[in-house]
Amino acid sequence: MEYSTLLYGVEDGIGTITINRPKALNALNGAVMADFTDLLPKIAADEAVKVVIITGSGNKSFVAGADITEMQKMSAIEGRKWGKLGHEVFDKIEKLPQPVIAAVNGFALGGGCELAMACDIRIAADSALFGQPEVGLGITPGFAGTQRLPRLVGKGIAKELIYTASNIDAQEAYRIGLANKVVPAAELMEAAQKLAKKIMSKSSTAVQLCKAAINEGLDVDLASGSAYESEVFGLCFATEDQKEGMTAFVEKRKPVFTGK
Ligand code: CAA
Repeated sequence: MEYSTLLYGVEDGIGTITINRPKALNALNGAVMADFTDLLPKIAADEAVKVVIITGSGNKSFVAGADITEMQKMSAIEGRKWGKLGHEVFDKIEKLPQPVIAAVNGFALGGGCELAMACDIRIAADSALFGQPEVGLGITPGFAGTQRLPRLVGKGIAKELIYTASNIDAQEAYRIGLANKVVPAAELMEAAQKLAKKIMSKSSTAVQLCKAAINEGLDVDLASGSAYESEVFGLCFATEDQKEGMTAFVEKRKPVFTGK
């Protein structure tokens, strides 16, 4: 698959998306969003892809936000359309059946921080910088920063970060729970791949059902989330992976999962 702004490759079950506009620090413009819109359903339908990694090209930036030069002259209607498109694309990322790891290799600002938050897990290079600088540009976060940041780090810290447009380094992002882990920049992709492989050693059907249950559950009340979990838990017993996983335990051997 060839895209003008994204690089995409699959190796050993890991699909890696690299946002590739290094001269603009991988800022998200309309072309990036169009490429994502085309690519994401293809990944969702590709059973050979078990885990997805999203990163930015170069060693300076994951994504330095939505493209300010494109937004500069937008009308209110165009701004709303752009915001809705960002939500649609990031929702598609969040709802990919496969787990998605953000390998944050530098600036994750504005739309870049929002993109990282749409992923399931964030691994940060020690050089990464996170922030929602929008109020300094006279706008609000537009690709769900006001929604996903408080859900991840809590209301108070999210409000402070958004109101002050403060950037935080990788260690601080780790401290507040925005980054799962911080690694030396040179080891970032290796760390993301190692995590992907650990996830892939488990039952991919069970992992995908866990993802769905967590995502569904966080948007509803506890009773509805628990009811959803009971359904997916029950569903597991229709899979070969459940039979293999439990038989392997009883036989004191390692399970060999097929994802079926
Ligand atoms: N949009 C468009 N172009 C951008 C960009 C962005 N968000 N961020 C960086 N660039 C471009 C710069 O304009 C520059 O281009 P030129 O070489 O053509 O001048 C190039 O990338 C390199 O950037 P700098 O020279 O500024 O690099 P630096 O190392 O000095 O600074 C930076 C890096 C601190 C990230 C700085 O570029 C910056 O502050 N960028 C903007 C960050 C930002 O405000 N992001 C939020 C955007 S709004 C948003 O995302 C809304 C939303 O929620 C959807």
